[in-house]
Amino acid sequence: MPQQILPMPEHIAIIMDGNGRWAKKRGLPRTMGHKKGAQVFGDITRYCQKIGVPYLTVYAFSTENWKRPQEEVDAIMDLMREYLKDARRYEQENVRTFFIGDKSPLADDIKDMIQRVEEGSSQNTGLTVNVALNYGGRNEIMTAVQRIAKEVEDNKIKANQVNEQLFETYLYTSGQPDPDLIIRPSGEHRISNFLLWQCAYSEFVYMDVLWPDFTPKHLDEAILAYRNRDRRFGGI
Ligand code: IPE
Ligand code: IPE
Ligand code: MG
Repeated sequence: MPQQILPMPEHIAIIMDGNGRWAKKRGLPRTMGHKKGAQVFGDITRYCQKIGVPYLTVYAFSTENWKRPQEEVDAIMDLMREYLKDARRYEQENVRTFFIGDKSPLADDIKDMIQRVEEGSSQNTGLTVNVALNYGGRNEIMTAVQRIAKEVEDNKIKANQVNEQLFETYLYTSGQPDPDLIIRPSGEHRISNFLLWQCAYSEFVYMDVLWPDFTPKHLDEAILAYRNRDRRFGGI
């Protein structure tokens, strides 16, 4: 155990996993798990705002989740529509919302709503929420590489000017601190293509609770576990 407890994490990221199993345990369709999961996301956002966390990133839909049955994908997209319609409420609570991921394959109405919510909340100074939607860490890095390659091709930058600082500005999270703490509920111990670049020195907390059962108490527990870690960043 370290001598001194760490300060509160500046950036918390959560892999909101376990919705399907939560529903199955209750004999409900998987979509009901996603519905409950979306409510919990609202509760946790409000709680983060209350305790003064500056950045929260949530994994809502991965670039791999399109493999699921169409009905389930449609249900998740409908929940996203509900969240987006409701987003005005967060806007009035001073929350700044970003959507990270490849927006191109999303339905036009969702793309329009995302644009409105991002623009409408851009001047807010409270909690920043990044909703990872059609997000994949490999896709994010590959897109950055493509854009940088194009700039080199167009002689806008030189290959030897490409360094970590520059590279970061091509990521969806440009300008934001890396996540200090990544929480994965549901009992799975893997990253599933989340924030691959940004997680280089994140602390991981895996929890056995399913996301729809996740409460502010679980978040407190994860934060406490984090604060008792010893972060060395390669030093001693
Ligand atoms: C997370 O819950 C939500 C999404 C991936 C969209 P899951 O749907 O993965 O739930 P489990 O892992 O099957 O229980
Ligand atoms: C990760 O969960 C993606 C989200 C929570 C949105 P998955 O359920 O898709 O991950 P795997 O398939 O168990 O690795
Ligand atoms: Mg899952």
